[in-house]
Amino acid sequence: MIIAAGAGSSRVSSITPEDFARLARLVQAEGGLSLPASKAPLVRARLARRVRALGLTSFADYVDLVSGQGTAARREREEMLYALTTNVTRFFREPHHFDALCQRVLPGLVARARAGGRVRFWSAGCSTGEEAYTLAMLLLEAMPEAATLDVQVLATDLDRRVLAIGRSGIYPGRVAQQVPPLLLARYFRQVVRGEEAGYSVGPAPRVLVRFRQLNLIRPWPIMDRFDVVFCRNVVIYFDAATERDVWMRISDRMLPGSILFIGHSERINTADLPMFRGDGVTAYRKV
Ligand SMILES: C[S@@+](CC[C@H](N)C(=O)[O-])C[C@H]1O[C@@H](n2cnc3c(N)ncnc32)[C@H](O)[C@@H]1O
Repeated sequence: MIIAAGAGSSRVSSITPEDFARLARLVQAEGGLSLPASKAPLVRARLARRVRALGLTSFADYVDLVSGQGTAARREREEMLYALTTNVTRFFREPHHFDALCQRVLPGLVARARAGGRVRFWSAGCSTGEEAYTLAMLLLEAMPEAATLDVQVLATDLDRRVLAIGRSGIYPGRVAQQVPPLLLARYFRQVVRGEEAGYSVGPAPRVLVRFRQLNLIRPWPIMDRFDVVFCRNVVIYFDAATERDVWMRISDRMLPGSILFIGHSERINTADLPMFRGDGVTAYRKV
């Protein structure tokens, strides 16, 4: 059986179930992403551009290339993961998490930071940085002097391109619909991007956020222990064993009493992972 070609990719051959299975094993090993056979048309549509860009005409050749050794194969494995991951995000996404943070978590952390203590946030799977900058703005609202204290937001992602956008801190005009007007005026400056007006994150939130490349299924060169972790809409693409492993490793990086926020369609089985205790909607305390 040959899996049907996607629209707009007619010059690239179809993908056989054998090649798809090889690709799925590689994607699982490299990025933790789970690709059941039902995703073959989507995978094919997303990778057809890569196949063409490399001057290849068949998926079999593409799978051979990404399975190889050496720099070209390694680079293309990165491109492959970038093409297959979803980077959708926005400022103040799932706002109930930020309400809970402000009401139940920030007051204690502000007191600690002002007493000279360390406060660490982590946006794991940060995509283009909106989640991390949302956290930075809320930290600044709670303690305008945050930059002078030991307060940081670590923002990590697998994908170097989304990290570059996060570091640039420049976003399209639709940001105005995502950020409350007061915070937009306080923490952004309007810029022109081609024909369109956009927004650039101002210096105060930028100072608090550090962007780093990190693959969640590889070793983590992270020494910090965190007070607040946002890992939302990332493990949803992993298989159950990889997801469980990521939650366990995140818990190792969390301070006792710290809090983890996960995506709206994700759940942690606290009977299986008793180091977490449910604490609100898709929020978990480290016991
Ligand atoms: C849908 S975005 C979520 C962004 C943000 N957390 C939110 O909820 O709005 C998922 C992000 O996870 C990243 N990602 C996927 N697999 C990853 C992995 N193995 N390690 C690190 N990041 C990964 C993707 O590159 C993508 O930017």
